[in-house]
Amino acid sequence: MATGIAFFVALLLWSTFRLGYALSLNYYEQTCPDAEFIISKAVKEAFMNDKTVPAAILRMHFHDCFIRGCDASVLLDTDGGGKVEKSGFPNLSLHAFYVIDNAKKAVEAACPGVVSCADVLALAARDAVVLAGGPTWDVPKGRQDGRTSVASETLQLPAPTFNLSQLQQSFAQRGLNLGDLVALSGGHTLGVSHCSSFQNRLYNFDATHDTDPSMNPAFAASLKKVCPAHNNAQNGGVNMDPSPTSFDNTYYKLIVQRKCLLSSDQALLTAPSTKSLVYKFATSKEAFYEAFIKSMIKMSSLTGGQEVRKNCRKVN
Ligand code: HEM
Ligand SMILES: *[C@@H]1O[C@H](CO)[C@@H](O)[C@H](O)[C@H]1NC(C)=O
Ligand SMILES: *[C@@H]1O[C@H](CO)[C@@H](O)[C@H](O)[C@H]1NC(C)=O
Repeated sequence: MATGIAFFVALLLWSTFRLGYALSLNYYEQTCPDAEFIISKAVKEAFMNDKTVPAAILRMHFHDCFIRGCDASVLLDTDGGGKVEKSGFPNLSLHAFYVIDNAKKAVEAACPGVVSCADVLALAARDAVVLAGGPTWDVPKGRQDGRTSVASETLQLPAPTFNLSQLQQSFAQRGLNLGDLVALSGGHTLGVSHCSSFQNRLYNFDATHDTDPSMNPAFAASLKKVCPAHNNAQNGGVNMDPSPTSFDNTYYKLIVQRKCLLSSDQALLTAPSTKSLVYKFATSKEAFYEAFIKSMIKMSSLTGGQEVRKNCRKVN
């Protein structure tokens, strides 16, 4: 009897484990062998006209994976119900959705109804990193698209004001550890941030400091010029690092110099284990790349969903 139960439990665990890890590198080998090439081509075409495309696509994939798993819920304009993730806060810099539309259209023309929008986005995120001069890797595939997107669920994303324990908790809820947090935060080598995302560090920081004391004072002064107090008008955004279209390890050097934008970036120095990783990645681009690839594969394997959408903007 006990053996029977143990066997049943083992079977249950095994099938759950399998469902969670159903992705594979050769998933489209028979059904759509050119899928990756077709998607890369579409992302590259967009990149040729707009060098900010990689930042947009990488962040889009992160937002997708952190809410309901990587199920393309972030791409929906409607799920037939209420407001979708796109209209939730924080959505400011989510843009370039047309890139995914173009890639999906091209891949539908070659193999209709086969490649999920979640896979298109995961592959496009890898392509984005490569186009920005970063490393390449093989992306496991076989994700399914979800049928639900809820605006208020974007509040489950980590906030830029989070301290390390809050960040750790947010990542742990998705099976990601502190090493993954440090490596994936390296995505902030690309793109821009709006003043509202780091205003907390510049004015009325806490009871004893007007400005965040963990920020380099000269850097804080320069940011205050671009982001005046009591001015919530959105500017064009401040570059995350001086090379916002190049995927390198500058981001980590800036954390060490206390010249990064977000509290959540600077927070990576507040525990010995994350601090030592920041220093490691600041001195070795190769070490950063290796860790980033591992953590990206982990994050992009958080699956959800149950169909292959025909149009990434609406459920079938
Ligand atoms: C650790 C928790 C994270 C927080 C709190 C966070 C927060 C933010 C914020 C506030 C912005 C600026 C939004 C704006 O003001 O417009 C931003 C931008 C960005 N984030 Fe993150 N992020 C996190 C993790 C990640 C991860 C894991 C990735 C990808 C691997 C990523 C990729 C990006 C990119 C590429 C941009 C620039 C987007 C653009 O210029 O279009 N972030 N993030
Ligand atoms: C972003 O969210 C805000 C606040 O919920 C909303 O007013 C705005 O329309 C959204 N932006 C987009 C592009 O959907
Ligand atoms: C992080 O923030 C939370 C929520 O504000 C707080 O309870 C916690 O004490 C903070 N942790 C540290 C280490 O500052």
